Amino acid sequence: MQKIAIAGYGTVGGGVAEILRRNAAKIAESAGEPVELKYILVRRDFPGDPFEKEMVRDFSVIESDPEVTILVETIGGCGAALEYCTRALKAGKSVVTANKQLVAEHGAALMELAREYGAGFLFEASVAGGIPVLHPLSRCLGANVLEEVSGILNGTTNYILTQMLENGESYADALSNAQRLGYAEADPTADVEGIDAARKSCILSGLAFGKNVSPEDIHVEGISKVDALDAAFAESGGMKIKLLGRTLLQNGKRFCFVSPHFIKASALLAGVNGVFNAVCVRASEVGEVLFAGPGAGRYPTASAVIGDIIDIVKNPGRVQPAGWDACNEAPASFSQFHARFYVRVPECNKAALEQKLGKI
Ligand code: NDP
Ligand code: HSE
Repeated sequence: MQKIAIAGYGTVGGGVAEILRRNAAKIAESAGEPVELKYILVRRDFPGDPFEKEMVRDFSVIESDPEVTILVETIGGCGAALEYCTRALKAGKSVVTANKQLVAEHGAALMELAREYGAGFLFEASVAGGIPVLHPLSRCLGANVLEEVSGILNGTTNYILTQMLENGESYADALSNAQRLGYAEADPTADVEGIDAARKSCILSGLAFGKNVSPEDIHVEGISKVDALDAAFAESGGMKIKLLGRTLLQNGKRFCFVSPHFIKASALLAGVNGVFNAVCVRASEVGEVLFAGPGAGRYPTASAVIGDIIDIVKNPGRVQPAGWDACNEAPASFSQFHARFYVRVPECNKAALEQKLGKI
């Protein structure tokens, strides 16, 4: 019997607790032994909640209980989450997290700490929600030299773009529905300005190319400036607009960036709508592989978290395979990336434009 604790009882943490109880027999079968939820760390009361008995407010109760072998961190951010993950690892407990900000900003140090204390550190849910992508990338594709890992990495913005551009909903309504459905970050600016996708791109870049990439070092553009007129231009050229996070090698240089893209309406990614995400991997031996599925939401994300719990129960001390070097190595500047760019200006003044952009 493995006993675990959850820190953060919100959308994802609540989903993990629920599935652990609902699917207890199946999870025990997959893990080879039962997994019991002993504590949930909360910071307010939940009167009448089915897990009220498991709730504690003091992290040291979890930290000092030798029966607890795994901490699930679903608080978010890098404040309390970083403190509790660090303390848990130093107490020899494994950590499973869905927190991409934590992994993008402190992943290398936490992986190092996990190795030092013989604990596990896994974060499958931190990229593309319910889609298994980090493990396949680092394990199943381990024989390949990776060339590109790109895709639709944010469910909220893909949902907003779909609702706005395909279903005629307003930006404000689409965002508020994404929040109501539990897709958006606590501060949805992180979603719409591309910051969340940037954190995920940095994690993918680290796993693909072995170098730590800081979100501060990459070019990031979100969807807040995309509107129906851009979609109309895209459509007239047989294309769709999608926000992509990309990390790739081009002319021997390593790039990592986030920006809205025009993609051919016939391409697989163009059909990935709503909260769905898709990650496309281009690699030396396998060619192209596409992973797709729900990129956010309570149960899909909890499914990925519990997959990591099962992995650690079966393989104690498992640290994300093919983690990356701790030293920061910024990718090449976006200005060196070769591509065709779409520029929309309010009025046609070719001479002024040519002064800025060169001959058109
Ligand atoms: P929520 O805001 O729904 O849940 C976070 C919970 O943490 C809240 O209940 C909050 O309490 C609690 N919390 C905050 N600070 C503390 C603290 N110091 N001690 C104890 N509890 C605390 O967020 P989500 O569940 O949506 O997201 C959690 C993490 O999972 C984030 O890192 C997010 O990026 C990631 N994630 C989310 C996905 C999603 O679809 N939602 C998908 C993939 C990853 P209170 O209720 O009192 O505010
Ligand atoms: N806010 C994130 C999204 C949650 O919309 O994709 C999943 O990481």
